[in-house]
Amino acid sequence: MKNRIQIIRADITTLSIDAIVNAANRTLLGGGGVDGAIHRAAGFELLDECRTLNGCNTGEAKITKGYNLPSKYVIHTVGPVWYGGNKNEPKLLADCYRNSLNIANLYNLRTIAFPAISTGVYGYPLIDAAKIAYIETFSFLKQNSNPKTVIFVCFSENAVSVYQNVLDEILNNI
Ligand code: AR6
Repeated sequence: MKNRIQIIRADITTLSIDAIVNAANRTLLGGGGVDGAIHRAAGFELLDECRTLNGCNTGEAKITKGYNLPSKYVIHTVGPVWYGGNKNEPKLLADCYRNSLNIANLYNLRTIAFPAISTGVYGYPLIDAAKIAYIETFSFLKQNSNPKTVIFVCFSENAVSVYQNVLDEILNNI
């Protein structure tokens, strides 16, 4: 399982892979953070396609083409806003990972990259979010051969070490 997971520090918009995941909002019409970076790099055609999707509920995911991005597809998912943990946030964040992986599987995509969904503007604590990301991903990969590889993209060195530590902890406990 470990050989199907990678942790890298990168700007997700630079990756030449099958699909990158966007941490979007329910309008799917762009915003700040990684969403803004993806729309800037993909160009206006991405926004045009997103306008046809009628938004997306929290925890769900929708796919578009990547347009000017090096990535073929963008899977847009909407993470929960962190209100302290008692507003169903863990389940909704898990839904984001599972539904995004499910779309990748349906499209036969081999490699997919996730940003740390909800951990920026939406305020989800990074350690807790990373645990959910791994648990959902491991459980999906165990049952499915596609995607082959899941890349966790960290935007800072600190995020890389959090992701690495959480992964070590999980692997030590299974
Ligand atoms: N590549 C990889 N990771 C990135 C990049 C990048 N180019 N830019 C930021 N991050 P955020 P959210 C990391 O705020 O919390 C938008 O306005 C960042 O360091 O982008 O899910 C949407 O429209 C953080 O760890 O997403 C929504 O309204 C992670 O990506 C709202 O923000 C997520 O941070 C969604 O908030």
